[in-house]
Amino acid sequence: MINADLKNKTALVTGAASGIGLATAEMLAANGAKVALNDLPGNEKLGKAINTLQAKGFNVVAAPGDTGNERSANTMVAHAIDELGGLDYLINNAGTPGTKSPIPANDLETQDSDFWQRLLSVNLLGPWHCTRAAIATLKKHKGAIVNTASTAGIIGNGSSSTYSATKAALISLTREHARAFGPDVRVNAIAPGVVDSEWECRFERTEAMLASIPMKRSGVPQDYAEAILFLCASTGYITGHTLVVDGGLTAGPSVTG
Ligand SMILES: NC(=O)c1ccc[n+]([C@@H]2O[C@H](COP(=O)([O-])OP(=O)(O)OC[C@H]3O[C@@H](n4cnc5c(N)ncnc54)[C@H](O)[C@@H]3O)[C@@H](O)[C@H]2O)c1
Repeated sequence: MINADLKNKTALVTGAASGIGLATAEMLAANGAKVALNDLPGNEKLGKAINTLQAKGFNVVAAPGDTGNERSANTMVAHAIDELGGLDYLINNAGTPGTKSPIPANDLETQDSDFWQRLLSVNLLGPWHCTRAAIATLKKHKGAIVNTASTAGIIGNGSSSTYSATKAALISLTREHARAFGPDVRVNAIAPGVVDSEWECRFERTEAMLASIPMKRSGVPQDYAEAILFLCASTGYITGHTLVVDGGLTAGPSVTG
């Protein structure tokens, strides 16, 4: 586990009521940062997460809001910056598969325009809304943005081809924003592979599937949080990069002979 000195640093983590977002908020706070946790308004897991982290002595505040809705995202980011007294790190982590089970790529009926709009608004426009609302403050702080993409955005094979396309676009946006906001703000992404979280879409986890991953297991939220911590606190010369964190999944299965 890596550590960093984040005393006097501030962070906003979206989609932080569970999974990768919650682990990231906890890891940043455990390293000294004051952290605003965002999740959907009315999600009671957000209040529970705040209580749990505060009971551990961490400096955290709630910033509910729907990142996929422009007005809600703007209000939420402004509230978070106000509560935190600034912003050093924006973690655009909120995302949705929009389905409880994987949708085959050739099923064009289920992936209708409403489905596309929903996934685009949360997975792509969400990071865009939050970045636009936070960028002036991040520039002042010489801060950093980390977007949570997916290996689906690189090799496909996610919960749907719509989902994969939104994550591929987020990887592209990461490079665009790195060019646009350097040298003041670094912009990177992580691409998780198989994640143990409360993700809405359930994949079948066969032993053979896990055995095909070089690290022989799925990733836990802390694996991804650590990569985000690194991209926030690292030397300052990494930008426009998507860090694949997948236990070797995209390296392909081992073969013999
Ligand atoms: N779970 C996986 O298999 C997997 C794989 C690769 C990438 N990812 C990405 O990792 C990120 C985190 O997912 P997770 O696995 O921790 O799942 P999770 O379901 O535990 O966490 C996602 C959180 O985002 C919140 N959220 C959804 N829409 C939101 C919105 N519009 N505004 C604010 N919050 C919103 C949810 O309420 C939830 O708490 C997502 O961006 C996801 O696309 C997940």
